[in-house]
Amino acid sequence: MAKPFLSIEQLTQRYPDGQGGEFTVFENASFGIEKGEFVCILGHSGCGKSTIMNILAGLAEPTSGVVKMDGQHVSGPSLDRGVVFQNYSLLPWLTALKNVTFGVSARFPAWSKEKVIEHSTAFLAKVGLTGDAIHRKPSQLSGGMRQRVSIARAFANEPKLLLLDEPFGALDALTRGTIQDELIKVWSDTDQTVFMITHDIDEAILLADRILLMTNGPMAQVAESVEITIPRPRNRTTIVEHPNYYAIRNHLVHFLGQRSEDLSGQPGDGVSRPETVRIDLTDAQESEEPEPAAPILRAVEG
Ligand SMILES: Nc1ncnc2c1ncn2[C@@H]1O[C@H](COP(=O)(O)OP(=O)(O)O)[C@@H](O)[C@H]1O
Ligand SMILES: [Mg+2]
Repeated sequence: MAKPFLSIEQLTQRYPDGQGGEFTVFENASFGIEKGEFVCILGHSGCGKSTIMNILAGLAEPTSGVVKMDGQHVSGPSLDRGVVFQNYSLLPWLTALKNVTFGVSARFPAWSKEKVIEHSTAFLAKVGLTGDAIHRKPSQLSGGMRQRVSIARAFANEPKLLLLDEPFGALDALTRGTIQDELIKVWSDTDQTVFMITHDIDEAILLADRILLMTNGPMAQVAESVEITIPRPRNRTTIVEHPNYYAIRNHLVHFLGQRSEDLSGQPGDGVSRPETVRIDLTDAQESEEPEPAAPILRAVEG
């Protein structure tokens, strides 16, 4: 089978435990991401999500294992991989627009100044920032606006892979909802590949094509890959009416509430997990034959 666009192979991360020994964050984690996919990763605090993301970004080296993007080894940061952190990380002395043009002109050095500004302004507009706001500095913007700038900046660089580490963690629920919608809009306009960490189950179902589930650390595993069998476009108010919504949600809640602990502490073999989980009740509803009322839960090797 062809290798996926992004391939994470037998990744292991160990750190000193501060007492002369070491602890294993995860061992032999392997998974792939296809081009254009939106993948979320869910797991309890401390299981190693940010560590995985930092390795994908090239900001950290794993103890062992490799990450390949388009068949090339990932090492060191690159403009091919854009990162958005929870704490915005904008340059405080630059306006919103300049925070975006700064990266764009580095990424596309042949472009004229006008083209860089036009491109950057268009991406700011995609996340709802127009007019006077784009000429303000981060300190003069609300938290939600700052995070919009971070997202516009990451997408405007058109990286091959976008990495988002709990980007909405610091936002209130209303702002979060609007920015989730904007994120999906830019993603569908651009067809970029997104890997996003979140601990919000509903956010993950709304946004993702697939959710990777991690067991608790230490010695965490990427245990499951749950397909979100809900067609797009999805709408936050009507998505809950889809027959698959609560079936998927209950599966995720059960995993995080119980199985993430039950399965923890087992080293991965890098082959048998993640297990692909596909929950789809619509097959049963559309069929003419009477189907059992129980949810159809198919688990196949990933
Ligand atoms: N540079 C480091 N040195 C030592 N331990 C670390 C380092 N970075 C992360 N850890 C530990 O690795 C584990 C995973 O951390 P992290 O990836 O930040 O988890 P998550 O993002 O899932 O909350 C935690 O126990 C954390 O304390
Ligand atoms: Mg983290």
